[in-house]
Amino acid sequence: MKNVFVADLVVGTEITDFFLMKQATVRTGSNQKQFIDMILADRTGDVNAKKWDASPQEIAAIEKIDGSTVLKIRAGVNEWQGKKQLKITRFREAVPEDGIDFSTLIKTAPEAGEKMYAYIMAETDKIQDSDLKNVARAVMERNREQLLYYPAASKNHHAEMGGLLWHMKRMLLMGERACEVYTDLRPDWVITGVIIHDIEKIREIDSNRWGISPGYSFKGTMLGHITQGVIMIDRLAQEFGIAEEKAVMLEHMILTHHYEPEFGSPKRPMFPEAELLHYLDIFDARFYDMEEALSSTKPGDFSDKVWTLENRKVYKPTF
Ligand SMILES: [Fe+2]
Ligand SMILES: [Fe+2]
Repeated sequence: MKNVFVADLVVGTEITDFFLMKQATVRTGSNQKQFIDMILADRTGDVNAKKWDASPQEIAAIEKIDGSTVLKIRAGVNEWQGKKQLKITRFREAVPEDGIDFSTLIKTAPEAGEKMYAYIMAETDKIQDSDLKNVARAVMERNREQLLYYPAASKNHHAEMGGLLWHMKRMLLMGERACEVYTDLRPDWVITGVIIHDIEKIREIDSNRWGISPGYSFKGTMLGHITQGVIMIDRLAQEFGIAEEKAVMLEHMILTHHYEPEFGSPKRPMFPEAELLHYLDIFDARFYDMEEALSSTKPGDFSDKVWTLENRKVYKPTF
């Protein structure tokens, strides 16, 4: 059971608690002694941790761990360059008898994967164009297993279990409102665009079953989800016999959703639903980042600088 969450760590205190170990690297310090550099996490965030002067047994214990695991640690809470850091005195790998409650350790979307998946599938029922419906359903059904836990990023926005579905669901909710206001928008294209736009993140980034991503895949690094997405639509269009105009418009939606060449889009949107898709995307990412920043900020304080918000701080009111 958790005693204290990462977001509530107090400098100068001693803690004994369970954390998810996301990363551990054995390094050599300037004193020539080996230390273990870790990223520990729970539901509320990440914290850097150091085991200085690591013994050969401790190094062996860390090296035999493959991927992420849960550690029980005893540590002091310090501050280093404005950020909290743990100075570990003891650690061990958790065992089943510890009775870990994983929901305290893993960052997850606020809704269960199955529930979000069902919501999005119901949205595909509203699509009237049979070509678009085929594409949207194939994308959902063929990626179902991974969608249920996949994050939408390895760091940044929606880097959490189920984050990709949560991103898609909130974009669909906003997209629906946009169609009510801007009545020329065609809902079929908005729904399909949202469903396909980031789906190749499943093959762009790697993820374990907890939605923790160690980073980019080979194809993701070489191509990225935009290019991978265009290839995917090209294949689906052939499979379903979709005519060129529609197929290219779907590819164009994926291609342009990052809007700027420096963010990976070689073209800018050339029809309204593609323009909207970009704004739905950026809207959801921005609000996610603000919610995140505020979740660990006390009333009357500013958050830390948020890199994805051009290093802005976010203010949390006292009332
Ligand atoms: Fe994207
Ligand atoms: Fe997105």
